[in-house]
Formats: sequence, structure tokens, C-alpha cells
Amino acid sequence: MPPPAAGAAPGPAEAGPAGRRLAALAAHLRAGAGPSEACRPPPFSRAWARALACRGAGFEEEAAALSKQEVLELRRSLFCPAQSVSYANTDPLLIVRGEGARLFDEKGTAYLDTRNNVCHVGHSHPYVAAAVARQVAVLNTNTRYLHPNLALLARRLVATFPHGSGLEVCFFVNSGSEANDLACRLAFARTDSRDLVVVDHGYHGHTQQAIEISPYKFDHKGGEGPRAHVHKVPCPDTLRGPHRGPDAGARYAESVAEACRAAPGGRVAAFFVESGMSVGGVIIPPPGYLDGCYRAVRAAGGVCVADEVQVGFGRFGDHFWAFEQQGVHPDIVTMGKPFGNGMPLAAVVTTRSVADRFHNGLEYFNTFGGNPVCCAAGLAVLDVIRDEKLQEHARAVGEHLRRRLWELSKRRPLIGDVRGSGLFIGVDLMLDRTSLEPAPEDRDLGAVRAPQGRAPDPDEHRRPPRQRAGHQAADALLAGRHTLIEAMDAVLGSLRGGLGRTPT
Ligand SMILES: Cc1ncc(COP(=O)(O)O)c(C=O)c1O
Repeated sequence: MPPPAAGAAPGPAEAGPAGRRLAALAAHLRAGAGPSEACRPPPFSRAWARALACRGAGFEEEAAALSKQEVLELRRSLFCPAQSVSYANTDPLLIVRGEGARLFDEKGTAYLDTRNNVCHVGHSHPYVAAAVARQVAVLNTNTRYLHPNLALLARRLVATFPHGSGLEVCFFVNSGSEANDLACRLAFARTDSRDLVVVDHGYHGHTQQAIEISPYKFDHKGGEGPRAHVHKVPCPDTLRGPHRGPDAGARYAESVAEACRAAPGGRVAAFFVESGMSVGGVIIPPPGYLDGCYRAVRAAGGVCVADEVQVGFGRFGDHFWAFEQQGVHPDIVTMGKPFGNGMPLAAVVTTRSVADRFHNGLEYFNTFGGNPVCCAAGLAVLDVIRDEKLQEHARAVGEHLRRRLWELSKRRPLIGDVRGSGLFIGVDLMLDRTSLEPAPEDRDLGAVRAPQGRAPDPDEHRRPPRQRAGHQAADALLAGRHTLIEAMDAVLGSLRGGLGRTPT
């Protein structure tokens, strides 16, 4: 059979099932309200059409044919067990589809996704998916070429920072860890120190450098403790920590000043803090905390890094960036997770003076960081946040959810505290509200199974639905029947027989 003419997509008869799907994809990509003709996917060329026509069954058929057990066995045999699987001790989930705030397993069971901190504008958002698909069908290459997506994304990102912050120089990277790693390099280049101040329970990523600044890693199982140049200060926890009154912010900041004074020569390179402590238990710093810390760090010659990987992009509701809640301007901001709605897109944004010191002759090149496809995802995410008013949505739904959780706490004494901002919400489960003794983490807090599926285990509520979840979803529709509140109620009410194993 002769190949189709140049410029024509392969016809169904010529192309086989894979070709038919791709022809349909090509038609889909070209259809609808796309960008200018220059950046629309062209029809497949003669060479591509020939390549498609000779394709047999592809990986998709092979993947679809794998059973859950086979997937699990492949995972066990081909990966290091350090790459953990959620619920591995009970029944891991095989998730094959996502839509909005819901995930679906291979049997079609729906789960309200209270755990995800990445798909900020909703799983499989069609606008983001189309932007990525269109761009990947046209060009994906590195940042040594000029590309409008990279430039436009930088302009749009910089515009989200407060006026007068001076946060105007962007580096696009692939992950939050890489962003924090680069932030360390920027700090080292800017200062005459290698000493770093970090906050207890903080997490900044999985690279060697990021682990060295993450007490959540270096102080826990398998960790090696802090390096000599890393100074750990207490987490600004106003519930269980030593400072709880109106002056808590200033008193916690004093521990940062002390750490700076104790550093060699009283000099530090940087202070790293999550603007809302996430894995540390959803801790919102008390008022005045960042201001006090930043003053102390700057007086010691250091720069202030705000890790917004979890809390940025409007999740806090009242502000686009969580540090804004404290009325401060960091020198470096790191971000990731939701930026690409699942595409590997992260960034470091800093001031011109920090960036200038970094420009010392050593070239900065990042093969994948800021490629046109990931930038298309980032631009589409920013469009959706703006057009669908998701920051305001996070504020309103978060408030509603916290109110409902407090109501529930009257019936379920295990809920000792509900805290957070916007859709960054923590539910603190405790055995005793006076002693504040936390519920044990290593034991079961309920069967966490709803009739039509699985409710998230209560611990997961430390990571509540991100911005896509609506009032209805926050309140309703867990596994088709149960509301989030009802599911928590049921789980907490099922603890008569004591606590058993927690699905982790
Ligand atoms: C606050 C914070 N910073 C950094 C990271 C690391 O990001 P990534 O996993 O994209 O490397 C995470 C990841 O969970 C995080 O929560």
C-alpha cells in the first residue's frame, strides 16, 4: 500500500489501530480553539505517516493487559523497596484515571483525592492536557533556543510576586528538590558562608543537598543527623511547641537569631523554611515569625529562602504565595509540585542581586528545565487559576471544610485541632485534648473502607483536596456515596475495638 501523501494524516485503513488513534489525535490537536497557525501541530509528514502505518500493537495495549497483581509484582521485582507504595500493607491502589478531584481505580471505583498536592487545577484538566498535547506535537527542546513559552511563563510568574519584592529572576527546573538544591547554590554564591539554618520537621526534597537541609529526613529512620554546617531551629508550633502565646512569633524567631550567632563568625548563607510546614503537620507560622527570622538572617549576612513547593499558587486562599501572609519578602522562592499540574515543572525565583552573584562564569544549563512543553503546562495552569478563580475557591472551600471539621470534632473527640489556611488543612488527631497526646501513627485509625471504595485514612487529611475540590466534593461524594466528613465520621466512630494497623 503506498504511503499517504506528505502532509496527510494516515487514513484508518492504512494505519492499523495505533495509526488510527494517532490520526484521531492529530485531528483533535488541530481542531478547536488553538493558538496561532505557527504553533499548531502540522499534519503528519510523509515520513511520520509511514512510521505510523507500520506500527502494530503499542505499549498501551500491553499496559492495559497487565493485572493489578502483575503490576505489583513488576514493581516489587524491578524497584528498590525504598520507593514506597501507599497502602502497601493493606491493599495498594491501581489508579488508572483522574478527573477533577477524583481518582478512579481499574474497576472504576472513585476516590475523592484528599492526598494529592500536585494536580492543583484538577486531574486531567482538559485545558492543561490540550496545551501540553499541542506543544509536544510541535516542539520540545532545551532552553538554549529562544522560545516564547519560556519567556512568557517567566513574565507571568514574576507578575505573581508582590510589588517591591524584587523577585524578578527565574530559573526553571524539574522538581522541588532541584529548586532547593539550586537555592543553596545561589545562597552560597551570594554569601561568604556555607552555614544553613533549617526548621525542625522541615522537608525540602530528596537530593543529597536537599536531604541535608531536611530534618524530616536526616533526623528520621535511616537519616544521618544534621551536618556540622546545618543548624536546626524549633518548628514554630503554637499547639505543642514551647511558645504558644501572642509573642510566639518573636520567640521562635529568637531561636533563629541564636542559631545565626552560634554559626562560625556569626555568619550564615541561608535560612530555609516552608512558608507553611507541610509534612511537619500543617503548621502555620505565628504572626511576626518570618519577619523576625528574616531580620536575624540578613543581619548575619544570609539570604532567606521561602519553600513554596507545597503551599504556593494560591493554595493558602488569601494569598497567592504563603509568605505574603507574613508580610515579608524572601530573597529566594522555590516552587514546584502544582506548577505543571503533574508535568515536571519547578522554579526558583530570586532577586537581581542574588542572581548577579551567581553569574560568575560557570554556565547554568538544565537539559529539561523550562522546556516548551512543561512551560505550556505552567502557562495553562496559571490561566486556569486566574480564569476559574481558584485562589478564591481555595479560600471559600477551605473555610467551609474547616468549619465542618470543627463541627465533627464535637462528636469525635479524637479530632483535637483543625488548622490551616485555604485548602492547606491539618486535622490533628489526639488521644487527649489536655495533654495533647497525639493518636499513635503506627496503629489503625479505622478500617477506612467505604461501601463503594476506600475512604482516605485520617492521617491523609493532613493533605486535603487541593484547589479543584468544590464545596460539594469537600462535603460530599466520597466513593460515590460518602462525604469526606461522613467518611471521617464513620472511620473515627469505628474505633470501639481499639487501634490496630494503619494502612500506610
Ligand atoms: C515543601 C517541599 N519542598 C520540596 C519538596 C521536593 O519536591 P520534589 O518531590 O518535586 O523534588 C517537597 C516534596 O514533597 C516538599 O513538600
